[in-house]
Amino acid sequence: MKGVILAGGTGSRLHPLTLITNKHLLPLYDRPMISYAIEAMVRAGVSEMMLVTGGTHAGEFLRLLGNGHEFGIDRLFYAYQEKPGGIAEALSLAERFIDGDRVMVMLGDNIFEWSLRACVEAFAKQSKGARVVLTHEADREHLRHLGVAHLNGARRIQHIVEKPDEPPSEFAVTGVYFYDETVWRVLSELKPSGRGELEITDVNNWYLDHGLIEYDIVEGFWGDAGESMQAYYQVQDFVRANGVNRER
Ligand code: G1P
Repeated sequence: MKGVILAGGTGSRLHPLTLITNKHLLPLYDRPMISYAIEAMVRAGVSEMMLVTGGTHAGEFLRLLGNGHEFGIDRLFYAYQEKPGGIAEALSLAERFIDGDRVMVMLGDNIFEWSLRACVEAFAKQSKGARVVLTHEADREHLRHLGVAHLNGARRIQHIVEKPDEPPSEFAVTGVYFYDETVWRVLSELKPSGRGELEITDVNNWYLDHGLIEYDIVEGFWGDAGESMQAYYQVQDFVRANGVNRER
């Protein structure tokens, strides 16, 4: 399994900080934000990866990460996204790198308290399809800013709703996704959403409609440090007090 870390976008929800740098380079306690996503992948057992970024600060990633060896990465590749077009569009840049293999995708601003190794192992055992990682979130206002899974009685996901006015459950979809080799065809057929972006939720709903998705619910803290200034500081406080990507 190979990995893709997505670290592009304008970071407009963290303006003005992100007017002068890429969101994923902002500090989270004692390290740039992107280090945590890389550590999460490496600790989960994925050590060949591509970082997709864009904008005027893309060169700083090279300065920080170099060939990745210091971070435990075996082979690190970079892709440059010409203009922000959504998570799904950014992922499509990794097609030739993944080269028919399976892929673990992680948004570079997502922070997990516990190691994702069990999710990687579960996807390795899955014969085909996709896998998403959910987290329990009781705050309905927070859910309105995320993708939310509509679970049916048999605890299967029926549908994922992106930024719902009326959240259909208390289970948010985090920014970690696993796909088989079908994903490139799904991506090529996507249409832009209302916000003009290719949405990862549409990719996941394609797999759902074909009965090809499994999920995990992670325990412990999860945060999207790029979601708002408040979220950025909540994640910051958690990382500083507890550390993240911990192995049990
Ligand atoms: C994206 C996804 C959303 C998911 C979130 C997790 O949202 O579209 O489904 O819940 O990441 O971080 P965005 O950060 O693009 O608003």
